[in-house]
Amino acid sequence: MGNESKYRVLIDVLTEITHLASPEELINRILERAVQFMEAERGYILLKTPTGDLFAAAGVENVDGIKRYSSTIAKKVLETGEAVLTHDAASSPDLKSESIVLDSIRSVIAAPLRVKGEVKGVIYLDSTTRSGLFTRRDLELIEAFASVASLALSNATKYLELLESYESLKADAELRSEFVGESPAMVEVINLIKKFAPTDFPVLITGESGTGKELVARMLHRFSGRKGELVTVNCAAIPSDLLEAELFGYRKGAFTGATQSRKGLFEAADGGTLFLDEIAEMSADLQAKLLRAIQEKEIKPLGSNQPVKLDVRIIAATNRDLSKEVREGRFREDLYYRINVLRIHVPPLREHPEDIPLLVAHFIRKYGASRVKGITREALIKLLDYSWPGNIRELENVIARAVVVANSGLIRPEDIVLETEGVESERRREIELKPLEEVEKEYVLEVLKRCGWNRRKAARILGITPRGLQYKLKRWGIQDGNDEK
Ligand SMILES: Nc1ncnc2c1ncn2[C@@H]1O[C@H](COP(=O)(O)OP(=O)(O)O)[C@@H](O)[C@H]1O
Ligand SMILES: [Mg+2]
Repeated sequence: MGNESKYRVLIDVLTEITHLASPEELINRILERAVQFMEAERGYILLKTPTGDLFAAAGVENVDGIKRYSSTIAKKVLETGEAVLTHDAASSPDLKSESIVLDSIRSVIAAPLRVKGEVKGVIYLDSTTRSGLFTRRDLELIEAFASVASLALSNATKYLELLESYESLKADAELRSEFVGESPAMVEVINLIKKFAPTDFPVLITGESGTGKELVARMLHRFSGRKGELVTVNCAAIPSDLLEAELFGYRKGAFTGATQSRKGLFEAADGGTLFLDEIAEMSADLQAKLLRAIQEKEIKPLGSNQPVKLDVRIIAATNRDLSKEVREGRFREDLYYRINVLRIHVPPLREHPEDIPLLVAHFIRKYGASRVKGITREALIKLLDYSWPGNIRELENVIARAVVVANSGLIRPEDIVLETEGVESERRREIELKPLEEVEKEYVLEVLKRCGWNRRKAARILGITPRGLQYKLKRWGIQDGNDEK
């Protein structure tokens, strides 16, 4: 297209698009027109997600088989806020390692999209066949397209929603890759994590030991968007008088040995999250101080009268029934209501055994991906039959060990050692239903064995005559080596 006619078309386009209804339609039309007008093969509107990824919100492709654009160029535009023109991308040294080479993109032209002065995206056009397709003059044109697109973008709620759903899909995949579980109970936990994470309210996580409470706390922090650190304190592991200094810090000279001031964990969590694990173990005195810190949003380090203002999100966990602790006077009711605003209960593993196969696969990947590829059916059945008093932590340990001892690429039943297996299998034998005579036979043989096959002694225990015992054994066809015939 000659330059004069180009300008003609541009004016037409700009007139045309002002009549379009929705900003979404406008953005798509601008892209289409830009591609057509500048004789590009492909064009994209790329938007920046809050995590800095690029997301193709609209695309026009007049060529088959090529799906990648040059993200290096797009990112450069995002960073510098300046339009970019590349005559022969394939031979440009700073783009060598990239998709340019892969797809042999020749010409690229791209310009920033600004919303309220901030670069929010890129309009990007390229050609795989023609080098030197775009000229310096085209830079002005694409910038003109970009400003109209930017205007539309500021009003395009659909794109903003798209961006949000992209983020949440990505967050979801990330969450699910670490927090494993597809049972309804675990899906509920995942949904609560997603719902609660972005709020600043305290969260109370309850559940037995090893169910994943700490993992839930980590996920809540990760998806909170809070910039600060996640600081974890185990209230059961630190003696009460030390815990106070740990949490609130101290000033030099606050007590003997305080030769220097030290910041507490509360301050370390400023802008982030403070995870108080096993909060039920906190002393009454400290509970009062914690309550004050949460209410006032400030702390006073030991030996100081100067309060420090803080922005800390509180997450607490306990394996106790905290309402019962309150009723029995061991936990402050006011503190309970403060921290129990949002609640996540993590179920014990025995209540969602259907997640065991998924968890096993997850832990095999974590501990033995190179050597061990899976688990046999029998071994899995053994895991499914167990009651898991130590919950997911115990399962994780069992798999970590099995991966080490496994002799082949598969975990077999003999690679699995369960803590309370004896008790378990006995309990199971107990409830196994079978004919009375079989139970009798097993029991009689067990008594005989324990008596060293002394029939007189066994008969006495069984409350029958030696003759009666003899008769039973004969009927069952049982003889033993110690028999004097
Ligand atoms: N849903 C889960 N998916 C994957 N790993 C889990 C899950 N729940 C717990 N784990 C793992 O089990 C172990 C124990 O979890 P943890 O959060 O420390 O339990 P708790 O704090 O309840 O005692 C950790 O290594 C954790 O990563
Ligand atoms: Mg824990």
